[in-house]
Amino acid sequence: MSHPSATQGTRIAVLVSGHSRGSNLQAIMDACRSGELKAAVCIVIATRRDAPALARAAQAGCPTAVVSPKKYDNDDHAYGEALLAVLKNARAEIICLAGYMRRLPPVVLAAFPQRVLNVHPALLPLFGGKGMFGEHVHRAVLESGMKVSGCTVHLVDEEYDHGPILLQETVPVHDDDTWETLAARVLPVEHATYVRAIKLVAEGRVRVEGNRTFILPEAAVAHEDRRTL
Ligand code: GRF
Repeated sequence: MSHPSATQGTRIAVLVSGHSRGSNLQAIMDACRSGELKAAVCIVIATRRDAPALARAAQAGCPTAVVSPKKYDNDDHAYGEALLAVLKNARAEIICLAGYMRRLPPVVLAAFPQRVLNVHPALLPLFGGKGMFGEHVHRAVLESGMKVSGCTVHLVDEEYDHGPILLQETVPVHDDDTWETLAARVLPVEHATYVRAIKLVAEGRVRVEGNRTFILPEAAVAHEDRRTL
């Protein structure tokens, strides 16, 4: 199956870390291919060459790159400049974090104001921050006694799992849930919610005021304003 031309629609860069399975990346690529998103993944950037998400990208014919923070001795600015060079070369318009475990360097955030999104497998701001990923986040939800969990798609700032919330969806927590069964219930909801949020940002339908976002009705966005945020 051929990948849609990267010149069609909004150009999305997806950033992943070494352990990313790439299921959110897959959902984004599938939505581009089906036409649900008028967009194309113009580059998938991983922190490690062996990231499983890179194989999915290659399979779909998406360009890939590896920018390793280690190569820059964890010098955040140098790493950020290297990321930025790849993003600019790919002419990315929106950045989607999908299993990206680091804080994005400020130099990258500054270049993509309100155009960096993240998906988190729980309801923020309750279950986020450093170390709150994968198994840990679902265990924390179960231990809290919450009867619902869900996912959050938010705009990214300089803190972990922080920034104005775009969309949230809930799922029930069942009495017999383990972290694995809860994670399995949340994951498909993440995929659908992430695609919906990307569509809103790509169509320029998000207005941000402080910590809050407001979704403009489709008709309120003039055609020529779309994709300009
Ligand atoms: C997802 O659970 C996402 O919410 C979190 O990292 C995980 C990545 O999973 N930020 P995948 O690589 O997209 O399958």
